[in-house]
Amino acid sequence: MAQKTIAVLTSGGDAPGMNAAVRAVVRSGINRNMRVFGIYRGFNGLLNGDIEEMNLRSVSDIIGNGGTMLYTARSEEFKQKEAQERAADFCRSKGIEGVVVIGGDGSFRGARALTAAGINCIGVPGTIDNDIACSEYTVGFDTAINTAIDMVDRIRDTAQSHDRCSIVEVMGRRCGDIALQTGIAAGATAILIPEVEYNTERDVIARIVNTQKTGKKHFVIVVAEGVGHVGDLAKYIEQRLGIEARATILGHVQRGGSPTVRDRVVASQMGYEAVSLLDQGLGNRVVVMRDGKITDLDINEALDMERVFDDKLYKVAMSVSI
Ligand code: F6P
Repeated sequence: MAQKTIAVLTSGGDAPGMNAAVRAVVRSGINRNMRVFGIYRGFNGLLNGDIEEMNLRSVSDIIGNGGTMLYTARSEEFKQKEAQERAADFCRSKGIEGVVVIGGDGSFRGARALTAAGINCIGVPGTIDNDIACSEYTVGFDTAINTAIDMVDRIRDTAQSHDRCSIVEVMGRRCGDIALQTGIAAGATAILIPEVEYNTERDVIARIVNTQKTGKKHFVIVVAEGVGHVGDLAKYIEQRLGIEARATILGHVQRGGSPTVRDRVVASQMGYEAVSLLDQGLGNRVVVMRDGKITDLDINEALDMERVFDDKLYKVAMSVSI
């Protein structure tokens, strides 16, 4: 049988563990006697011819590195049909029959478009937000929440020393998973996330006052980026309750750093699975985690799914941080 040629790219916001996924694709591909190309800077690499053939050593010593060795981009140009056709032609000119696309749901839409243009694509969920409906887990989330808790623990030390309220904004525009899990782990007095409508008096002020009554003197409030306004909230708490308050936006620190074991392992499993699907001649699929197992779904089905918010976890958060 003729030797298959595949490629791999990372797209959208980088996430710790993307390198582990790239490594798994390159090595599993070569193990299956495939040629494997790395595509640089997301879909832009296909438009600019920015690719390089990988060998086993091209991905040595990257499993523990944050960021992505292939660089990444959010390609506006690739949203145009003409660009998608051009990218597919470029793949054909290099003999590339399949591409593994590591990124979020925007990247999966790109993968769907490239498959429609004739090049089989397989998506691998990589984003710190954990906001992909079809998968219980996205590569990068575990590292991000561990970074966030490390930062919030430090902030708590100083909040405690000064009897202050610290309001911490974590990443997540549409998805509150980072805030919810960090908030639970930090024992936050209040957690504000985009999935749950909030009322400042009821969900922040009353919760602080109730804990004050039982002797608490310092408070941590975790707020998702999608809720925002942490500076205003700090001012409001100061005026309303007379407690000193400080706001901190953690920002991109959450996107960097050496991936945790979980991210390295899941990324390796997902990268391996993606290559196995391409080897079977399949495209337009995404590798996902469901019921704790690695499996795959059709991209259209995956993109149509709605995220199911974990109400129970939210209830736990509200019940234990009192
Ligand atoms: O999707 C990952 C993410 O880090 C979000 O949490 C955040 O809203 C966004 O990317 C930030 O994007 P950028 O790095 O382009 O500012």
